[in-house]
Amino acid sequence: MIKVIIDTDTAGDDTIAILTALHNFDVLGITITGGNVDFNQQIDNALYTTQVVGKTDIPVYPGYSGPIFGNTEQEHTTVEDVHGSDGMGDSFFPKPERSAEAAHAIDFIIDTINENPGEVSLLAIAPLTNIAMAIKKDPGITEKIEHLYIMGGTNNALGNIVPAAEYNFYVDPEAAKLVLQSGIEMTMVGWDMCTDYSLMFDEEHDEIESFGTAGAQFFKDVNKVVKKFNKEVHKLNGTTHPDTLLVAIAADERIMEKSNKYYVDVETKGELTRGYSLVDINGRLGKDPNVRVCEKVDRDLFKEHLYDVLKDIK
Ligand code: BDR
Ligand code: CA
Repeated sequence: MIKVIIDTDTAGDDTIAILTALHNFDVLGITITGGNVDFNQQIDNALYTTQVVGKTDIPVYPGYSGPIFGNTEQEHTTVEDVHGSDGMGDSFFPKPERSAEAAHAIDFIIDTINENPGEVSLLAIAPLTNIAMAIKKDPGITEKIEHLYIMGGTNNALGNIVPAAEYNFYVDPEAAKLVLQSGIEMTMVGWDMCTDYSLMFDEEHDEIESFGTAGAQFFKDVNKVVKKFNKEVHKLNGTTHPDTLLVAIAADERIMEKSNKYYVDVETKGELTRGYSLVDINGRLGKDPNVRVCEKVDRDLFKEHLYDVLKDIK
């Protein structure tokens, strides 16, 4: 089984991605980075998620609770309006039965990669603060990471947090820039792919509910607030699953129907464009491609993977 580390800012969509990773991979650990909601709540959410599938042996490591280099003056933006005040659809699950590890996330990432050179892939479903800091502390890991899968950015501006930027890149663009330029073999699944292909419509929510499994119930619970938010704010009957799409692609690359390698960079300064991911599709900058960018998804196959995960959690 392929070894992975998941770096997450655990809200509802991250939890389903974690369950998808636990279904498909040998998950060596879960690292937490600042993002969607209160940092300690995110740690609890990750611990609770492992309990849902009885995998309480998977260690959870707290990392940085927000950007720590670059423009740290920018106020950290959390999104309780999207995911609920607990990040879990206002489900207010009980406190997890165990605590997180004492070690720092980036030390866990560095040590694990050094101990398993060429064998560990990273599934990055949060702002890239932890990954960037791990690279800064030990640049040698860049050659030892098997593959880095990133849910973040967007193919030339279809933002979700501001018009020009996707949330994970917007929160810590300096980290995103450092990671993209690190030379690691990487794949980016941007927000544009998630709006087009990761959307589960209300009818599909009903279909999932009909499985009658604990997995289906958990999916329903954690998606409650985002479902309402999408209806009210976006007039959309359904929920997007960006982090799950990323993990599913890592598990089964056939889901990524089309991809190309491009030079990708991130705007760190723009007044309106901070966090904007520039994908140089026509090679105008003359720079070597650094990122494989997902351009089309087999939605049916993705859905099949998601359904399998939720049916399997009895
Ligand atoms: C990303 O931002 C977060 O809110 C989600 O968990 C996902 O990782 C989507 O832009
Ligand atoms: Ca996330």
